[in-house]
Amino acid sequence: MANLAVQVAGVSFKNPIIPASGVFGYGREYEQLFPLSKLGGIATKGTTGTPRPGNPAPRIAETPSGMLNSVGLQNPGIDAFIERELPNLLTKDTVILANIAGSSVEECVMVAEKLDDTDVHMIELNISCPNVKQGGAAFGTHCDSAEAITAAVRKATKKPLVVKLSPNVTNIAEIAKAVESAGADAVSLINTVLGMRINIETGRPILRNNVGGMSGPAVFPLAVRMVWQTAQAISIPVIGMGGVSSGADAIEMMMAGANAVQVGAAIFTDAYAPIRILEEMEAWLDAHHIAHVTDIIGGVTPW
Ligand code: SIN
Repeated sequence: MANLAVQVAGVSFKNPIIPASGVFGYGREYEQLFPLSKLGGIATKGTTGTPRPGNPAPRIAETPSGMLNSVGLQNPGIDAFIERELPNLLTKDTVILANIAGSSVEECVMVAEKLDDTDVHMIELNISCPNVKQGGAAFGTHCDSAEAITAAVRKATKKPLVVKLSPNVTNIAEIAKAVESAGADAVSLINTVLGMRINIETGRPILRNNVGGMSGPAVFPLAVRMVWQTAQAISIPVIGMGGVSSGADAIEMMMAGANAVQVGAAIFTDAYAPIRILEEMEAWLDAHHIAHVTDIIGGVTPW
């Protein structure tokens, strides 16, 4: 059997598959279906300084081969996360990436400082949420602001710091270089692609927020392209995500340059998707006599 272990920013993962932030909550529903220890890691729902109710409904819309969401960072706040959710997650023998967000640099710094005093394994700083007016993608769509918030959070924590990037930019590799220079230990990409649906009978947007972030298989080629471009531009590791639905997709993402792979929307149509993807990857590696999954990272040979 192929060895599936990978390293990201000095952290050892038993395999490269990580449910993405926002699709897996804090794992409580899924631990009734399979042992969370089978996962390489878990990225938790974005946590902010204070509880947030999120955006008004409707905040989900279907799209061909994907979905739009405008959840708006609904979460119980950092204190509740640390008291109620993190202790359970830390018993699961898997890497916990605490995804954090905020409306201001100060809020993100405060959340990172609180996590620094815990045993969480990594922090994933979300500078790419398209669904909030303040913070989110406002930080992540310009090199200067991306660099400034990364530098501030870097100072606030010694935990390995992953910065989650927005695809809603002209050149994602430039943003990645900016956060690398500010001290990020890794980047994760892509967050969702800004989109819109309209109910033609009412003339209203389907989402109450008018616009939302698109994910699912339709964005997979965009994600592969951006992972490939980013991995070539920086020296720190890349965690790839965006429409990964099969073991073949995960292999492709790693060939593009990802050291690990997050699985998002696929979990909404198949709750076992992370386990299935892992098994499919393993079968593919064995069929191709590849002894270690790390052998495929960045393995694409461009024409
Ligand atoms: C949300 O809660 O709006 C989704 C988070 C994100 O896209 O970053």
